[in-house]
Amino acid sequence: MIDIQHVRKVFATPDGDVVALADITLAIPTGAMVALMGPSGSGKTTLLNIIGAMDAPSSGQVTLDGISVERLDAEERAAFRRRIGFVFQRFALIATASAYENMEFALRIAGVDRTDWQRRILHALDILDMNDHAHHRPGELSGGQQQRIAVARAICIEPKILIVDEPTANLDSQRGAAVLNLFRSYAMNGTTIVMSTHDPTSEKYATDICRLRAGAIEQHHTTTLPA
Ligand SMILES: Nc1ncnc2c1ncn2[C@@H]1O[C@H](COP(=O)(O)OP(=O)(O)O)[C@@H](O)[C@H]1O
Ligand SMILES: [Mg+2]
Repeated sequence: MIDIQHVRKVFATPDGDVVALADITLAIPTGAMVALMGPSGSGKTTLLNIIGAMDAPSSGQVTLDGISVERLDAEERAAFRRRIGFVFQRFALIATASAYENMEFALRIAGVDRTDWQRRILHALDILDMNDHAHHRPGELSGGQQQRIAVARAICIEPKILIVDEPTANLDSQRGAAVLNLFRSYAMNGTTIVMSTHDPTSEKYATDICRLRAGAIEQHHTTTLPA
Protein backbone atom coordinates (compact mmCIF):
# COMPACT_ATOMS: atom_id res chain seq x y z
CA MET A 1 0.00 0.00 0.00
CA ILE A 2 1.28 3.43 -0.98
CA ASP A 3 -0.25 6.06 1.26
CA ILE A 4 0.07 9.66 0.12
CA GLN A 5 -0.97 12.14 2.80
CA HIS A 6 -1.38 15.86 2.14
CA VAL A 7 1.54 16.03 -0.22
CA ARG A 8 2.44 19.51 -1.37
CA LYS A 9 5.27 20.40 -3.73
CA VAL A 10 6.42 23.92 -4.40
CA PHE A 11 9.26 24.73 -6.79
CA ALA A 12 11.11 28.00 -6.26
CA THR A 13 11.82 29.66 -9.60
CA PRO A 14 13.24 33.07 -10.57
CA ASP A 15 9.65 34.08 -11.38
CA GLY A 16 8.40 33.04 -7.96
CA ASP A 17 7.06 29.88 -6.39
CA VAL A 18 5.28 27.32 -8.54
CA VAL A 19 2.81 25.10 -6.71
CA ALA A 20 3.13 21.84 -8.64
CA LEU A 21 1.11 19.82 -6.10
CA ALA A 22 -1.35 21.66 -3.87
CA ASP A 23 -2.58 18.96 -1.47
CA ILE A 24 -2.64 15.35 -2.63
CA THR A 25 -4.09 12.59 -0.48
CA LEU A 26 -4.37 9.20 -2.14
CA ALA A 27 -4.15 5.57 -1.03
CA ILE A 28 -2.89 3.10 -3.62
CA PRO A 29 -3.42 -0.56 -2.70
CA THR A 30 -0.83 -3.16 -3.65
CA GLY A 31 -1.61 -4.53 -7.09
CA ALA A 32 -3.57 -1.45 -8.18
CA MET A 33 -3.08 0.04 -11.61
CA VAL A 34 -3.49 3.77 -11.26
CA ALA A 35 -3.91 6.11 -14.22
CA LEU A 36 -3.05 9.71 -13.38
CA MET A 37 -4.79 11.81 -15.98
CA GLY A 38 -4.94 15.54 -16.48
CA PRO A 39 -3.67 18.32 -18.68
CA SER A 40 -0.02 19.13 -19.17
CA GLY A 41 1.29 20.97 -16.12
CA SER A 42 -1.27 19.45 -13.74
CA GLY A 43 1.42 17.75 -11.63
CA LYS A 44 1.49 14.16 -12.93
CA THR A 45 5.27 13.86 -13.33
CA THR A 46 5.93 15.63 -10.02
CA LEU A 47 3.66 13.17 -8.21
CA LEU A 48 5.30 10.15 -9.89
CA ASN A 49 8.74 11.42 -8.86
CA ILE A 50 7.63 11.81 -5.26
CA ILE A 51 6.01 8.36 -5.13
CA GLY A 52 9.24 6.87 -6.50
CA ALA A 53 11.39 8.75 -3.96
CA MET A 54 13.15 10.58 -6.79
CA ASP A 55 12.05 13.84 -5.21
CA ALA A 56 10.84 14.83 -1.73
CA PRO A 57 7.57 16.62 -0.98
CA SER A 58 7.69 20.18 0.41
CA SER A 59 5.24 18.98 3.04
CA GLY A 60 3.07 15.95 3.69
CA GLN A 61 4.30 12.40 3.50
CA VAL A 62 4.39 9.18 1.54
CA THR A 63 4.47 5.84 3.32
CA LEU A 64 4.99 2.44 1.78
CA ASP A 65 3.53 -0.45 3.70
CA GLY A 66 3.54 1.83 6.73
CA ILE A 67 7.13 3.00 6.39
CA SER A 68 7.85 6.67 5.70
CA VAL A 69 10.27 6.99 2.82
CA GLU A 70 11.71 10.18 4.32
CA ARG A 71 12.63 8.41 7.54
CA LEU A 72 14.72 5.77 5.78
CA ASP A 73 18.46 6.19 6.07
CA ALA A 74 20.49 6.51 2.86
CA GLU A 75 21.11 2.78 2.58
CA GLU A 76 17.48 1.83 3.19
CA ARG A 77 16.33 4.43 0.70
CA ALA A 78 18.71 3.05 -1.92
CA ALA A 79 17.36 -0.46 -1.25
CA PHE A 80 13.83 0.85 -1.60
CA ARG A 81 14.62 2.59 -4.89
CA ARG A 82 16.08 -0.62 -6.26
CA ARG A 83 12.63 -2.20 -6.07
CA ILE A 84 11.04 0.54 -8.15
CA GLY A 85 10.93 0.37 -11.93
CA PHE A 86 10.80 3.75 -13.65
CA VAL A 87 9.84 4.45 -17.23
CA PHE A 88 10.60 8.12 -17.77
CA GLN A 89 8.71 10.37 -20.13
CA ARG A 90 11.88 10.90 -22.18
CA PHE A 91 13.11 7.32 -21.53
CA ALA A 92 16.49 8.32 -19.98
CA LEU A 93 18.31 5.54 -21.84
CA ILE A 94 22.09 5.73 -21.87
CA ALA A 95 22.92 6.96 -25.38
CA THR A 96 26.34 5.29 -25.66
CA ALA A 97 25.12 1.86 -24.54
CA SER A 98 23.14 -0.76 -26.45
CA ALA A 99 19.64 -1.73 -25.39
CA TYR A 100 21.10 -4.87 -23.84
CA GLU A 101 23.75 -2.89 -21.93
CA ASN A 102 21.13 -0.42 -20.72
CA MET A 103 19.31 -3.35 -19.15
CA GLU A 104 22.51 -4.77 -17.66
CA PHE A 105 23.12 -1.41 -16.04
CA ALA A 106 19.66 -1.40 -14.45
CA LEU A 107 20.14 -4.95 -13.16
CA ARG A 108 23.52 -4.03 -11.65
CA ILE A 109 22.02 -1.01 -9.85
CA ALA A 110 19.13 -3.16 -8.62
CA GLY A 111 21.64 -5.61 -7.15
CA VAL A 112 20.39 -8.57 -9.18
CA ASP A 113 22.79 -11.53 -9.27
CA ARG A 114 24.79 -11.49 -12.50
CA THR A 115 23.98 -15.13 -13.24
CA ASP A 116 20.35 -14.11 -13.73
CA TRP A 117 20.95 -11.12 -16.04
CA GLN A 118 20.85 -12.83 -19.40
CA ARG A 119 17.66 -14.77 -18.67
CA ARG A 120 15.87 -11.67 -17.44
CA ILE A 121 17.05 -9.45 -20.29
CA LEU A 122 16.10 -11.92 -23.01
CA HIS A 123 12.74 -12.51 -21.37
CA ALA A 124 11.95 -8.78 -21.13
CA LEU A 125 13.10 -8.15 -24.71
CA ASP A 126 10.92 -11.01 -25.84
CA ILE A 127 7.85 -9.65 -24.04
CA LEU A 128 8.36 -6.26 -25.69
CA ASP A 129 9.10 -7.86 -29.06
CA MET A 130 12.51 -6.17 -29.15
CA ASN A 131 14.87 -9.20 -29.41
CA ASP A 132 16.04 -8.11 -32.84
CA HIS A 133 17.20 -4.75 -31.46
CA ALA A 134 19.15 -5.87 -28.40
CA HIS A 135 22.44 -4.53 -29.74
CA HIS A 136 21.13 -1.24 -31.10
CA ARG A 137 21.92 2.00 -29.33
CA PRO A 138 19.02 4.35 -28.51
CA GLY A 139 19.95 6.65 -31.41
CA GLU A 140 19.46 3.74 -33.80
CA LEU A 141 15.93 3.13 -32.56
CA SER A 142 12.65 4.91 -33.28
CA GLY A 143 10.84 6.73 -30.45
CA GLY A 144 8.44 3.81 -30.06
CA GLN A 145 11.29 1.29 -29.95
CA GLN A 146 13.11 3.38 -27.34
CA GLN A 147 9.93 3.44 -25.31
CA ARG A 148 9.68 -0.36 -25.47
CA ILE A 149 13.32 -0.69 -24.38
CA ALA A 150 12.63 1.69 -21.49
CA VAL A 151 9.72 -0.56 -20.45
CA ALA A 152 11.85 -3.71 -20.84
CA ARG A 153 14.56 -2.13 -18.69
CA ALA A 154 12.04 -1.29 -15.97
CA ILE A 155 10.39 -4.71 -15.86
CA CYS A 156 13.58 -6.80 -15.96
CA ILE A 157 14.36 -5.83 -12.36
CA GLU A 158 10.99 -7.34 -11.37
CA PRO A 159 9.92 -4.24 -9.45
CA LYS A 160 7.39 -4.13 -6.63
CA ILE A 161 6.27 -0.74 -7.90
CA LEU A 162 6.33 0.28 -11.53
CA ILE A 163 6.15 4.01 -12.21
CA VAL A 164 5.49 4.98 -15.79
CA ASP A 165 5.29 8.46 -17.25
CA GLU A 166 3.18 8.55 -20.42
CA PRO A 167 3.76 4.92 -21.47
CA THR A 168 1.89 5.01 -24.75
CA ALA A 169 2.85 8.50 -25.99
CA ASN A 170 5.17 7.13 -28.70
CA LEU A 171 3.35 3.91 -29.54
CA ASP A 172 0.71 3.13 -32.14
CA SER A 173 -2.60 1.93 -30.74
CA GLN A 174 -1.79 -1.77 -31.12
CA ARG A 175 1.59 -1.52 -29.38
CA GLY A 176 0.06 0.79 -26.80
CA ALA A 177 -2.64 -1.77 -26.00
CA ALA A 178 0.00 -4.51 -25.71
CA VAL A 179 1.99 -2.46 -23.18
CA LEU A 180 -1.12 -1.61 -21.16
CA ASN A 181 -2.14 -5.28 -21.13
CA LEU A 182 1.35 -6.16 -19.95
CA PHE A 183 1.12 -3.68 -17.05
CA ARG A 184 -2.28 -5.05 -16.18
CA SER A 185 -0.95 -8.59 -15.97
CA TYR A 186 1.83 -7.32 -13.67
CA ALA A 187 -0.77 -5.60 -11.49
CA MET A 188 -2.79 -8.79 -11.26
CA ASN A 189 0.39 -10.51 -10.06
CA GLY A 190 0.88 -7.98 -7.27
CA THR A 191 3.06 -5.26 -8.80
CA THR A 192 1.64 -1.81 -8.14
CA ILE A 193 1.48 0.30 -11.30
CA VAL A 194 1.26 4.07 -11.23
CA MET A 195 1.21 5.71 -14.63
CA SER A 196 0.50 9.12 -16.03
CA THR A 197 -1.31 9.27 -19.31
CA HIS A 198 -3.10 11.51 -21.75
CA ASP A 199 -4.51 8.51 -23.51
CA PRO A 200 -8.24 7.98 -22.81
CA THR A 201 -7.99 4.30 -23.86
CA SER A 202 -5.75 3.72 -20.79
CA GLU A 203 -8.83 4.18 -18.63
CA LYS A 204 -10.23 0.77 -19.41
CA TYR A 205 -7.07 -0.93 -18.12
CA ALA A 206 -6.79 0.95 -14.83
CA THR A 207 -8.24 0.01 -11.45
CA ASP A 208 -8.05 3.65 -10.37
CA ILE A 209 -8.43 6.78 -12.44
CA CYS A 210 -7.27 10.00 -10.81
CA ARG A 211 -7.85 13.25 -12.60
CA LEU A 212 -5.44 16.00 -11.63
CA ARG A 213 -6.01 19.67 -12.19
CA ALA A 214 -3.61 22.37 -11.02
CA GLY A 215 -1.91 20.01 -8.59
CA ALA A 216 -5.07 18.70 -6.95
CA ILE A 217 -7.12 15.53 -7.41
CA GLU A 218 -10.29 16.65 -9.10
CA GLN A 219 -11.82 13.18 -9.33
CA HIS A 220 -10.87 9.66 -8.20
CA HIS A 221 -12.72 6.71 -9.60
CA THR A 222 -12.05 3.10 -8.58
CA THR A 223 -13.29 0.18 -10.65
CA THR A 224 -13.15 -3.53 -10.28
CA LEU A 225 -12.35 -4.93 -13.66
CA PRO A 226 -13.11 -8.40 -14.87
CA ALA A 227 -9.97 -10.55 -14.61
N1 LIG B 1 11.86 21.28 -11.48
C1 LIG B 1 10.88 22.16 -11.61
N2 LIG B 1 11.12 23.47 -11.38
C2 LIG B 1 10.14 24.40 -11.50
N3 LIG B 1 8.87 24.09 -11.84
C3 LIG B 1 8.57 22.81 -12.09
C4 LIG B 1 9.56 21.78 -11.99
N4 LIG B 1 8.98 20.59 -12.29
C5 LIG B 1 7.70 20.88 -12.57
N5 LIG B 1 7.44 22.20 -12.45
C6 LIG B 1 6.14 22.88 -12.64
O1 LIG B 1 5.18 22.18 -11.87
C7 LIG B 1 3.94 22.05 -12.57
C8 LIG B 1 3.60 20.57 -12.75
O2 LIG B 1 4.53 19.99 -13.66
P1 LIG B 1 4.52 18.44 -14.04
O3 LIG B 1 4.47 17.66 -12.78
O4 LIG B 1 5.66 18.22 -14.95
O5 LIG B 1 3.13 18.31 -14.80
P2 LIG B 1 2.62 17.21 -15.86
O6 LIG B 1 3.52 16.01 -15.77
O7 LIG B 1 1.21 16.93 -15.46
O8 LIG B 1 2.68 17.86 -17.21
C9 LIG B 1 4.13 22.80 -13.86
O9 LIG B 1 3.66 24.12 -13.68
C10 LIG B 1 5.62 22.79 -14.06
O10 LIG B 1 6.04 23.89 -14.83
MG1 LIG C 1 4.67 15.02 -17.22
